[in-house]
Order: sequence, then C-alpha cells, then structure tokens
Amino acid sequence: MDAQEFRRLGYQLVDWIAEYREGLERLPVMSPAKPGEVRAAFPDHPPLHGGRMDQALAALDRDVMPGITHWNHPSFFAYFPSNTSYASILGDLAASGIGAQGMSWQTSPAATEVEEVVMDWLRQMVGLSPAFTGVIHDTASTATFTALLCAREKGSDYAQNEEGLQSGEAPLVVYASDQGHSSIEKAALLAGFGRSFLRLIPTDDNHAIRLDLLQEAIEKDLEIGLRPCALVACVGTTGTTSIDSVAAMADLAEQHGMWLHVDAAMAGTAMVLPECRGMWAGVERADSLVFNPHKWMGVGFDLSAYYVRDPQHLIRVMSTNPSYLRTAQDGQVSNFRDWHIQLGRRFRALKLWFYLMDVGVEGLQTRLRRDLENAQWLMQQVDAVADWERLAPVPLQTVCIRHLRPGLDEAALAAHNLEIARRINEGGKAYLTPSLLKGKQMLRVSIGAEATERRHVEALWAALKQASEAV
Ligand SMILES: Cc1ncc(COP(=O)(O)O)c(C=O)c1O
Repeated sequence: MDAQEFRRLGYQLVDWIAEYREGLERLPVMSPAKPGEVRAAFPDHPPLHGGRMDQALAALDRDVMPGITHWNHPSFFAYFPSNTSYASILGDLAASGIGAQGMSWQTSPAATEVEEVVMDWLRQMVGLSPAFTGVIHDTASTATFTALLCAREKGSDYAQNEEGLQSGEAPLVVYASDQGHSSIEKAALLAGFGRSFLRLIPTDDNHAIRLDLLQEAIEKDLEIGLRPCALVACVGTTGTTSIDSVAAMADLAEQHGMWLHVDAAMAGTAMVLPECRGMWAGVERADSLVFNPHKWMGVGFDLSAYYVRDPQHLIRVMSTNPSYLRTAQDGQVSNFRDWHIQLGRRFRALKLWFYLMDVGVEGLQTRLRRDLENAQWLMQQVDAVADWERLAPVPLQTVCIRHLRPGLDEAALAAHNLEIARRINEGGKAYLTPSLLKGKQMLRVSIGAEATERRHVEALWAALKQASEAV
C-alpha cells in the first residue's frame, strides 16, 4: 500500500467509523453471534496474494460487525462503561501513524514527555498531591500485579536480588475484601504469595471491608509468625461500587509497615468531581493506586493510570539494565520501560492528550454528573415500588437490583431474575449484567456510556418492568 492508497482507504474507514457511531442506537447492543459463526466466514488459509484491502473493508461490515457487542451504545449498561471517544480514536490513529516505540526516553523523547505531562494533568484532575507520579499501564490488572511485586520486594528486603521466594523466611500475607476484583487474587497468586496467604476479608452491609475483621486477621497472622505485607483497598468494587475506608486501612498499613494499594479502576474517574473525593479520603497515604481512564472517562481501551509515591522503589523492582538498552541520557530522564512489566510501549499518552484537549475538565465533569444523576433517578424508581429490591447503596453510577415475586424461594428468584436479564439482553435493546451478590442473584445496571441520556435509562426501566411481568 502506498500513501495515496492509504489516504483513500483511510478516509473511507473514518467515514465508516463515523457512520457506525451515528447509527449505534439502531443496532442490537449485545452481539447475537453464535459460537464459531464469525470464524466460519473467514477462509482457512491466509491470502497468497495481497491487494485485498477493499475486500477486507467489505468483510469488516459483513462478517465482523455481527460479532461485535457495542460498548459505546447508549443502552450499554453491562460490566462497566468503556468509552472510546472520537478524540481518543484520533489519538490512537495518530499513535499508530507515528508508530513510535517509547520504551526509553531516547527511543522517542516525546512519547515519554507527553506521558509525563498528561499523567500530571490527570493527577491534578483527580485531586492527588504532587507526591504521586504516574505512568500508563495497559490495564488495572497489570498495575495491581506491579503493586504487589513492589509490596513483596519491600516486605522481603528485595528478596528478588537473592534467592527470590526461596529464601525460607516467614510467608508474606496480602489482604483485600471479598468484594475485591479478581485481578487482586490473580496478582497475589502470580506474585508468588500463594492462595494460603491471601486473606479475602468479609464485608459489611454496604459491601465495604469489615475493618474489625481485617484487624483481627492481621493480628492472628502476626501471632502465628506470618508477615502482613500488603493491603488492597477497593474504592468502587466491581459488583456494587462499594467503597472501603482508605483512611482506616492506611492506619493499619502504617501500624504494621504494610504496602497500601488502592484499586479505584472504575471509581477513580469520579474523583474528577471534587464532591466525590471524600470517597477516597486517605488516598494520599497510599503507596500506589490505579484507575482506568479506559473505563468511564472516555479514553479508548487500553489506558490505565498507575500512580506511586516512590518511583525509585518501582524502578528498583522493575528494572533490569542490559547494555543494549543503556543510553547517554539515562541519569536525567524517565525510561518508562523500568516502570512496568513489558519493555516495549505504545504512545498511549496521545489518546489521553487528545481526549483532554477535546473535552476539557469541565466538559468531563458535566457528563459525569449527568451519569450520577441518571443512576440516582433509577435508584429512586426502584425504591418507589414494592416488587423491586435494591441490593446495595448507589454512591456512583451502578445500580444493583432484583425483581421480587411473592412465594418464590431464593433459587426460584434467581432463575426469575436470570430470565429477565436474558430477555433484556437477547432482545437487543439494552444490555446489562446478571451477577451474584452474596448469594443473591442481581441485575447490575452500570450507567455511563458517553451516549447514554436519561431517555435510555427510562427505556431500560420500562423494559425491566415489562420483562418482569412477562416472565
Ligand atoms: C474494581 C476493578 N479493578 C480492576 C479491574 C480490572 O480492570 P482491567 O481490565 O483494566 O485489568 C476491574 C474491571 O472491571 C474493576 O472493576
């Protein structure tokens, strides 16, 4: 492909994306594809001869799109919002067009320095002090894994430099709530703590960690000679967006010399609103925190913001220094290859920069407040009727509910609500996530796609009531 052909196809593709986005509302939110259906449309072997891009674009529409679940659809209420704004699409395109690999400052100085600028803007936007320095990770999962590696190395006096986990010292223990995201468990296992040394502490009626039980668990572990190492505080759990008390967990972390990591993957974006920042009071005492601009904010997947208070510790844990990666500027600059697991890195900062330039802080605040109000509206509708139950507080944009039918036991109620979810999702007009909360089957409505207006939430509520009557 030459530049002229790139231009022709590129304009065509941009038009195609704009048309797709304009027409989103007419599409079924959840893909109706059956397993294997998309794959069957593709030949078994790669094309021997090239020059088939026109065919590829036609097949994109015909064969690929039926297998897409539309995360940017205004009636997408499943999992979490994953907004990919137009500006961030353009930022991604620019990053791909430039094709820079920013593993070291020298391999593209702008990739490092633009990232430093936008991560500092983001820090200011969520009200964190300059004590924190940020770096872009791909996902919250890798950021949390990195945090637990840093905790392990702090807790073991850099055991990785000697015998690693074979040093035979008393085991290190990690604590989080039983509502913490599965990425915490995965990180603890991959970082070598072992399942027997991961404590998932029960939660209270608001689904936040029980501090009395956390303290008890730490004391018990100390008594039997284990070493409490890391606490993960969840600000906005996946199930219900419940909020652990970061300040109280910071007290415990400081008392016992533990690492405090804050997982605010979804809820971090809310901190752009000054009125929400009380939810993570105490965050300044965390050693590390992560939140995902690739969720509710509007920067297309993947872009996760990882902040630490001590970058030198992070670098010590994550860096290796082979001769072929050394450069003359090493002492004066950040080499982000040493701030995470992978070596190579895309110029992700461009999409965050474009997004912020397009929306501005006030523009984002207005949208987030709209989403919070929409969640409150839905909560009020549910609270106003006797046959629907709300299963959790609504501090943010997620509303967890179930339909009640007199005479049904817990198992029958679960089946009844699963059937409501099936009807909504397979109907194509909206998409939500059925999920379990402490044994109760709930319907989880996560509001916050960029395109979601009040009318879409009203339509969902009408559809839920209709489905509950029809089942
Ligand atoms: C609270 C929380 N933490 C972590 C994650 C994992 O995010 P990622 O996909 O960026 O690894 C999620 C995803 O839903 C989440 O809700």
